[in-house]
Amino acid sequence: MLVLGIETSCDESAASLVADGTTTLSSVVASQIDLHSAYGGVVPEIAARAHVEAIAPVISEALAVSDERPGVVAVTAGPGLVGSLIVGVSAAKALAWSWGVPLVAVNHLEAHVYAPVLEGLLPEHPFLALVVSGGHTLLAEVRGPDDIEIIGQTLDDAVGEAYDKVAKFLGLGYPGGPVIDSLSRQGNPRAVAFPRAMLASGDYNFSLSGLKTAVIRCVAKLEAEGAEPLPARDIAASFQAAALDVLVKKTVAAALDRGLSNVVAGGGVACNTALRDQLARECDRKGITLAYTSPALCTDNAAMVAAIGTMKYEAGHTSGLDADVYPNLRLGEPMPGAG
Ligand code: KG4
Ligand code: ZN
Repeated sequence: MLVLGIETSCDESAASLVADGTTTLSSVVASQIDLHSAYGGVVPEIAARAHVEAIAPVISEALAVSDERPGVVAVTAGPGLVGSLIVGVSAAKALAWSWGVPLVAVNHLEAHVYAPVLEGLLPEHPFLALVVSGGHTLLAEVRGPDDIEIIGQTLDDAVGEAYDKVAKFLGLGYPGGPVIDSLSRQGNPRAVAFPRAMLASGDYNFSLSGLKTAVIRCVAKLEAEGAEPLPARDIAASFQAAALDVLVKKTVAAALDRGLSNVVAGGGVACNTALRDQLARECDRKGITLAYTSPALCTDNAAMVAAIGTMKYEAGHTSGLDADVYPNLRLGEPMPGAG
């Protein structure tokens, strides 16, 4: 069966055709980065308007690869920016109605968790999922697509948000993740000993806002002392070392404590080369198998929406044409109003 996936939860307008829940026939992503970079972050009003312009051409391009009409339309209904979500959900409803096919409203976070299915990398249940993106930082025990338990999460900023804010402060542009990632490779991660918040908290929660503040204070202090400014690459590398240290240690601890021998990592920050290396090394040391998708499947895309949409359709979770959007939907929360 062919499923059309549609994704507009943040600043990417995306559409994809996926066959049998596993084979990507097309995956089109129109990024709005250029529109938001001047502001150092996503501006919701601009994002929603840009989705209105992009959504029809993006869907047409995704559909063009096949003569067969999709049997299901799957769309991200939350979490995300309300105006952005409405554009995708409205387009999905229009197509489902005109084709006379079922609509499946999808949780964006579940789509990140199950993205590995598209590269043959999805482990057997149960497994541990680490979702790290611009809006979320969480660990969950995944016992099935309808049985997901959040076991830890950030108490303040998401890790991607911390990358973006630090990059903005250092004048490195938006999004901050990729630039800090590459700059860090030339810097000294021990130049500044930034705090490893909640490392010894005994739970799987995270806190990143203090780290961001510590970076800002450190730079201000050096400036006030008239000291030679530290190179941005050393600050970036030291910031990244502190952020990743806690992420990697808590992920491995959660897997061991819960007896989970498989870990899946997804979301935009899972593109980070240092995170990929460090988590792979630590998992390997502890006999844990780590599944990473390719970077294009870590960042927002609609193939992952079509993949989880296929699973939800097969489990009977379709939505009516009165489906709403849910900006604060949690991972593992049943889709409101779905069958
Ligand atoms: O999953 P995603 O595309 O969108 C959300 O759902 O948020 O993630 C975007 C986030 C941004 O904060 C961006 O800075 C971060 O992922 N990111 C990275 C890297 N590539 C993207 N963070 C660290 N290292 C990277 N290489
Ligand atoms: Zn995302």
